[in-house]
Amino acid sequence: MSPALLNGEAATNGHHVNGPAINGLKKSSVDGFGTRAIHVGSDANEETGAVIPAISLSTTYKQNGVGNHKGFEYSRSGNPNRNALEATLASLESGGAYALAFASGSATTATVLQSLGPDAHIVSVNDVYGGTFRYMSRVAKENQGLDTTFVDLENADDETILASFRPNTKLVWIESPTNPTLRLIDIPRIASLARSAPSSPLVLVDNTFLSPFYSSPLLQGADIVMHSLTKYINGALRRCNGRADPPRAPHRAPRAAALPAERDRRSTKCI
Ligand SMILES: Cc1ncc(COP(=O)(O)O)c(C=O)c1O
Repeated sequence: MSPALLNGEAATNGHHVNGPAINGLKKSSVDGFGTRAIHVGSDANEETGAVIPAISLSTTYKQNGVGNHKGFEYSRSGNPNRNALEATLASLESGGAYALAFASGSATTATVLQSLGPDAHIVSVNDVYGGTFRYMSRVAKENQGLDTTFVDLENADDETILASFRPNTKLVWIESPTNPTLRLIDIPRIASLARSAPSSPLVLVDNTFLSPFYSSPLLQGADIVMHSLTKYINGALRRCNGRADPPRAPHRAPRAAALPAERDRRSTKCI
């Protein structure tokens, strides 16, 4: 599927539409994946005309009064370059409105799973990336009592998948294609099964191996998309970042509302 085709659902009169603004930055209404990759999040500097955003090295920003500032107060909670990256990523992920950047893909995984709170249950594809598997089955299990049921989401029948859901199932974790065996998961099918479960768990897709150029999980029913930015989306292994696109639908937002606060606590500047 080409990105143009995927963008069809989010397009009006040939213009890509992701919402009025992305992460507080003015959204460009330009067509095309390549154009968005270059322009969204990096408007020319109004003062100097520079077309590449200046690197903001300040850790702290001037306030004219308590809480009276220009959108930035402390670089951990907000930084112009991180905002720009988040705006670019949100515009590339068709169907997405927001993106959050983290220090690595694994920091993203940790934050999403921590946001589920204590003693939650999740269902995960059984061939998930090794680091994610270890975080779920060892770190999160020990630290927050997370219980994970690993299911062959590629081959299992509907009854088997439905039987894996519990009253406290808060998340379904899909990775497609999986790393390293490249198994493909039918995202709309799993999302629809999750919707029918009593706890209506959120559906997350780790889209690292396809990138938003080839796959748009949010248009296929997912609530959250994550990427390890060291991989395909970045030309492979040139930069260590992670990102998550949290849910947009208001009725699914409460659980995800914890995400920015969690990010504040745990991640560092990520550009
Ligand atoms: C599919 C997938 N998800 C997540 C990660 C973790 O990302 P990071 O290495 O940026 O922590 C990786 C890393 O290899 C991966 O391949």
